[in-house]
Formats: sequence, structure tokens, C-alpha cells
Amino acid sequence: MTNEDQFQLATYKKMPIAAERGEGVWIYTSDGDKYLDLYGGHAVAGTGHCHPHVVNAISKQASELLFYSNLVYSSARARAAEKLVSIAPAPLSKTFFCNSGTEANENAMRMARMATGREKIITFSGGFHGRTADSISATFLGKYRELGKPNVPGHLEAAFGNIESVRALADDTVAAIMLEPIQSMAGVRMAQPEFYIALRTLCDERGIVLIYDEVQTGVGRTGQWFFAGSDAGGGVVPDVVTLAKSLGSGVPVGACLVTGAIASHIKENDLGTTFGGGMLAMAAVTATLEAIEQDRMLENVRQVEAYLRERLREVEQVVAVRGLGFLLGIEFSENAAAVHKRLLERKIITGTSSDPKVLRLLPPLCLTEEHVDEFVLAADFHG
Ligand SMILES: Cc1ncc(COP(=O)(O)O)c(C=O)c1O
Repeated sequence: MTNEDQFQLATYKKMPIAAERGEGVWIYTSDGDKYLDLYGGHAVAGTGHCHPHVVNAISKQASELLFYSNLVYSSARARAAEKLVSIAPAPLSKTFFCNSGTEANENAMRMARMATGREKIITFSGGFHGRTADSISATFLGKYRELGKPNVPGHLEAAFGNIESVRALADDTVAAIMLEPIQSMAGVRMAQPEFYIALRTLCDERGIVLIYDEVQTGVGRTGQWFFAGSDAGGGVVPDVVTLAKSLGSGVPVGACLVTGAIASHIKENDLGTTFGGGMLAMAAVTATLEAIEQDRMLENVRQVEAYLRERLREVEQVVAVRGLGFLLGIEFSENAAAVHKRLLERKIITGTSSDPKVLRLLPPLCLTEEHVDEFVLAADFHG
């Protein structure tokens, strides 16, 4: 291995792989090995590794102008914002660009406080929203919240999927209800459509802003552009959607998509970040969305998800397959860490979760049925 460990804080438990090159669903290592990446570079490589359309767009942009802030107009930024809004369900109609998922969530919560004049935020047990102060305080999952001590006050915890637990907290001091519509890290937990519908109704009744953290579910991962507006979510569209991860295919970028009603409360200088909306990131956003469209990846996700579910139906050790599209949690009767390890030895990268029995798959949206066959064969479920 390289001497990276000598000079970097050991904040992540690494796999014994040095990734040097990527192409589509494949990662090539420095010692000439090839891995099937069913973890999608940490849910970032939605378009696959180094999609040529994205690489060309950022190369071209890099030679023209790497960066200028929001103090100037930019055609690259205008194109990205227009494209993102064009795929968003109404009434989401404006964007705010930033650099990461946690920053998108911080800004979403801030906008909700500005729009309502209230301070409290309700989030859910098992949700993960990031590691900066407000987002980590909104994260009721494992040890994370503890790591953010002292926490930002006014964060309330409700039970995911249980509308009564939300109703009990949602008084007129609450600015926002924020959720991962599919809780990824908690083991890919999804609620019934009625839950999302009831949240929307509750927010409308009590003047509360509804925020979907779609850092993982957004940008095509569920087989739709967003969970917002999907049938699985009862057609509910929140007031704010936050995005990051696969939005720039690996170039760091985050975004908040908001309704006109929310936007009307935000004035000059209320929000900001130097790098948000930079040209390189904007070129990556536009090209990412175009690549998904051109390669018909949403249709591919839906088709290959169905095939994967079918193949896993034959497997005795698989108790359930949770989630939607290419955000899938495979629940095993045995510990998923053993399956993860076995797959890694057979050169397939998958993810674990905070549920020890659940293996997480977040593959690039270009994964095919042949790759699924390789995965099922390598997992050697019957062996
Ligand atoms: C659902 C969700 N929200 C927010 C975040 C934080 O994103 P970032 O690491 O880009 O700050 C993550 C990261 O894993 C996430 O999965």
C-alpha cells in the first residue's frame, strides 16, 4: 500500500485497494486488478466512473475558466441551474449551489428558519444528514450526534414511518421536518407512501417546511430523477430538496432545490459560499444530467433493479431486499460483513450499513444484467 496512512488522519476504515483508474462500473488498481464497483465510489459515481461526456465537459471548462464566484454571471452556471430545475418536480423552481451534502442541509435548515421565523427542526431516528454542526445535530444515528457536541439546540427526534410521533412534536415552534426519504446508512429503510403524504399534510396544516435530504436518493438513483414526486413517495413534493454525491459525478458540488415560496424569503447576502456555483462544478452538473438522459439511465435502473430482485429471490440466505432503484439494502440471515468481505476477495466492492445484517448496493446507474450475474455468482450464496 502507499504511504498515505503516514500522512493522513486515519478517519476511514479503508479497503485494501489503491484505486488508480475508473471506467463505468469498473475500478482498476495500482497492482493491475479490476473491481466491480457496486458501491459507486461512495454513491458518487452515478454516471459511472469517468463518463466520457462528463470528462470532456470538465476538461473543456477547465481550459476556459476554472472558477469565478457568484459575484459574476456565468453561462456554465446558468445552464446547470436551468437544467436542474427542468428535471425537478413542480413547484421546485430555484437552486442554491454549494459544495457538499452537509452544506446543502445546513442551508436548507437555515432557509426554513428564515421562511417561518421559527427555530426547531424535526428529524428521524436512523437519519444521517452530515457532519457539520447543524447537520450532525439533526443526525439521530449511532454515535454521530455525540461527535458533534455541543449540539445545536432545537433538534427534535421522531420515529421514521410513525406519523403520530411527528404529530406529537410538530407545534408552532417547528420550522422544518427533514428526512432522508429512504434512510440509507440505517440499512436502507423506506416508509409507506401514506407516511410521506401524511408528512406533507401535517406541514401544510402547521406552516412547517418539508425538506427531503436526497443526497443519496437524488439524481436518478431510485430510477426517477428524485424521490420527490415519485409514486413510491405518494407523489409528495417537499418545499426543499437537498442534493450532493452523484450530482457532479465526482466533482464536489451540492445544491438545494426550493419552491418559489421559500425563495421569496431569501435576500441578498442571506446565504453564500465562495466555491458554490463555480464553473468547473457547474460544467460537471450539466454534463452529469445530460449523460443520464442520453444513456437512458433511469430506464436502465428500473430494469436492472427488477432483474436483481428476481435473481435474489432464488437465494435462501436473503431475507429481504429493501429500497428502490440502485439504493438497495440486502438483508441476510447471516452477518453482512462476512458477505462484504467475501465479495471484496472476489473483487466486488459493496457497502455495509449500521444494520449488521444489511449489505448496501449503490452502483453506477449504468450497471447491467451481466454485472448482476457476476455479483450473484461471486457472492456464492449457495456455496
Ligand atoms: C443522506 C445524506 N445526507 C448528507 C450527507 C452528507 O454529505 P457530505 O458528506 O457530502 O457532506 C450524506 C453523506 O453520506 C448522506 O448520505
